[in-house]
Amino acid sequence: MSNGLLTVFSEIANQYELVNHVLTFGLDIPWRKKASQIAAADGGTLWLEVCSGTGEMAVNLQRLAGPEARIVLTDFSFPMISRARSKSELRKASVSLADSSGLPFSENTFDLVVISFATRNITGNRVRLMKFLREFYRVLKPGGRFINLETSQPKSTPIRLASHLYTTKVVKTLGRLISGSRTGYAYLSYSVTRFFDADELSKILHEVGFSKVDYKTMTFGVVAVHKAVK
Ligand SMILES: C[S@@+](CC[C@H](N)C(=O)[O-])C[C@H]1O[C@@H](n2cnc3c(N)ncnc32)[C@H](O)[C@@H]1O
Repeated sequence: MSNGLLTVFSEIANQYELVNHVLTFGLDIPWRKKASQIAAADGGTLWLEVCSGTGEMAVNLQRLAGPEARIVLTDFSFPMISRARSKSELRKASVSLADSSGLPFSENTFDLVVISFATRNITGNRVRLMKFLREFYRVLKPGGRFINLETSQPKSTPIRLASHLYTTKVVKTLGRLISGSRTGYAYLSYSVTRFFDADELSKILHEVGFSKVDYKTMTFGVVAVHKAVK
């Protein structure tokens, strides 16, 4: 699974940001902005973004970070992380190649761990999701926050069905046309319709050991930002 995903993400890296903006009608910009405000709110000196992709979320985090905060970005795709590394806004951040299933950091290291639009990709099922979440929990300091921005399942049935229809038909086709990747957006659109709803994800976070789990939905529940504390 991981190797297949690595190929998918490496294949779409060049067009990834453009495709995101087009397919979300630019809404990914305010979604990331809001999630990074929630993430940054409690400060801290060492922040980690896992599965950081081209660093779009990290740019938002960097804007909100105080002078004492250091941001570390990791991703397992070289083409993705190379784009992050080339961003002038991220010149003060540490950018490195790492698989999120086994992070190269000691336990109790970070004040904040952030992941955006990647949780549903790293997880084929609940057991696998919990394995990754335990890894994020491990590297957080006690009292540290985990922030997860991800697509979700709108509670309203008509909105959920419409969003699934849009994802499986439009996202799949337009994503392929703009990115040139036949398999990439087929897989990504499929994973959107199958991901956990926000309440279920909260339960999973509790099972992993997180406390004070809370979430905020945006755009009729199409996306959710979860916050959880170690
Ligand atoms: C949909 S992109 C999201 C990128 C970025 N977080 C954003 O918000 O735009 C998913 C990212 O997760 C990375 N990824 C997927 N599985 C991973 C894993 N096991 N370890 C590290 N990175 C992974 C991919 O390479 C890709 O860059």
